[in-house]
Amino acid sequence: MDTSPRRVEHQQTDKGYVPVYTTAVVEQPWDGYSADDHATWSTLYRRQRELLVGRACREFLDAQDEMGMSEHMIPRFDQLNEVLGAATGWTLVGVEGLLPELDFFEHLANRRFPVTWWIRRPDQIDYIAEPDLFHDLFGHVPLLMNPVFADYMAAYGRGGVKAHAIGPDALQNLTRLYWYTVEFGLIDTADGLRIYGAGIVSSKGESLYSLESAAPNRIGFDLERIMRTRYRIDTFQKTYFVIDSFEQLMAATEPDFTPIYARLAGQAHLPAGDVQDGDRVFQRGSGEGWADGGDV
Ligand code: PHE
Ligand code: FE
Repeated sequence: MDTSPRRVEHQQTDKGYVPVYTTAVVEQPWDGYSADDHATWSTLYRRQRELLVGRACREFLDAQDEMGMSEHMIPRFDQLNEVLGAATGWTLVGVEGLLPELDFFEHLANRRFPVTWWIRRPDQIDYIAEPDLFHDLFGHVPLLMNPVFADYMAAYGRGGVKAHAIGPDALQNLTRLYWYTVEFGLIDTADGLRIYGAGIVSSKGESLYSLESAAPNRIGFDLERIMRTRYRIDTFQKTYFVIDSFEQLMAATEPDFTPIYARLAGQAHLPAGDVQDGDRVFQRGSGEGWADGGDV
């Protein structure tokens, strides 16, 4: 078996090299992982767990233990699926990498979470631009054990199918919600702010920065505010949004978004680093080290 870590082929077009997405669900080739692959998992698992105790929310850390994830080896999807299926009815499916949006939404709507089966190379320990096994499995999967978050993700999938049919602006609004919650969300707990976003927990640098740096804004969750806000894909976030609870997130996203999309269509988009009147500000960022431009 070919065990080179990079599976998404690239094709040369007039826009430069673009990834060729494959939509197929694949069996996790667990026996094909090399000793290096397992060692990369171990290194990252140990390092992040140590960092995340007291930084990630309890639900996240407890779920990793409950699922039997450990530093010893790359987990088997079929073993995780037994625990996950019993807890919340979700199933992990193996994929080669990022899926086209509609395929992704349809998986989520049916409680299937696509997990990239390959893991980054040893020289990519600190940073990799695209999602790999460590990001998807370590970062996203644990909270699928939480009944409320599990329902949120499935509702997001159904919402995605709908937004896709409405059009690109609706999709952009919805994508920002995913970005600022599922990927880069913080949660306010009795013990202080904690991380729940998968993009943060799978990054050493951002696990520290998101909670401890004076540079970024930390602002209370507000659905429409988030839907208007651009974000960063090549640097740490300029703003993190803070939920009070997963129940709050679920309740805020319950209403039909169709009229919200229509209303937002007439409003200006906000720069990633803006603080607005009416924001519930946990911290106004110093903005130190922020790159100019580059918000998407
Ligand atoms: N209520 C949203 C809609 O009508 C769906 C949704 C739920 C989206 C949860 C995101 C998260 O489109
Ligand atoms: Fe992700």
